[in-house]
Amino acid sequence: MGGLTYIDFLAKFGVGGAHPGGINLTKNVLSQEKISSNSSILDAGCGTGQTAAFMYERYQANIVCLELNPIMVEKAKNRFQLLKYPIQLVQGSVEDIPFPDDSFEFILCESVLAFVNKPQALHEFYRVLKTGGRLLANEMTINSSLPEDAKREIMEFYNIDSLLLESDWRTLLQASGFKEIDIRQLQSDLMNGNTAQEFNFSQNFEPELFSILNQHGNMLVKYHDILSHRIFTCTKI
Ligand SMILES: C[S@@+](CC[C@H](N)C(=O)[O-])C[C@H]1O[C@@H](n2cnc3c(N)ncnc32)[C@H](O)[C@@H]1O
Repeated sequence: MGGLTYIDFLAKFGVGGAHPGGINLTKNVLSQEKISSNSSILDAGCGTGQTAAFMYERYQANIVCLELNPIMVEKAKNRFQLLKYPIQLVQGSVEDIPFPDDSFEFILCESVLAFVNKPQALHEFYRVLKTGGRLLANEMTINSSLPEDAKREIMEFYNIDSLLLESDWRTLLQASGFKEIDIRQLQSDLMNGNTAQEFNFSQNFEPELFSILNQHGNMLVKYHDILSHRIFTCTKI
């Protein structure tokens, strides 16, 4: 595959709403929070910026985006410029967040933790949240333990360092200092797809990326009972 990853596929295809449940699930999660135009919200690993644009439209809040992948950054930047939305976009990593302590009322993290060093990113989220601040995350979760070879197949394909059960996520969130931890499994499973998905293709992309798309589909079919996701909400008290 020439070293290309699932994230390269998402970036070059410009997949917007690249998380289970898409923007509709995002709207549902946000609607349960007390967000106002005074809120500062970090969209951690914003991808092409679909959620960030929605949050600005809906709340006129102070939206800040952090994203590591340069192609994603470019696509998000173009989106915000076209819409003339005053959204701050910074290239950087959730593992080393370039913002001071106590910066945000909310952090939204949609299918990003799965791809990074989870304890490190959670430590950083805790640090940059204000007291009373909320972390809202939608992350890959396995429904039950898997044999080692299956685990390895999934981890190698998505280029991730671990696969967590709901109980593992709870332990990690607790260890990072979070309280009021709520973990929900909502209806939309990964195979139900995402009705509001968008694409913003790069002009040149490697044909191998189609194979990654295909393999992703195969993974979802093969592991449909096991590969799932959860919505986590928790508070820095
Ligand atoms: C599955 S996509 C989700 C994108 C976006 N949150 C969405 O829902 O459409 C994962 C995103 O995390 C970004 N990412 C991966 N590692 C990162 C890191 N260390 N710091 C910031 N972003 C990262 C990827 O570049 C990609 O845009």
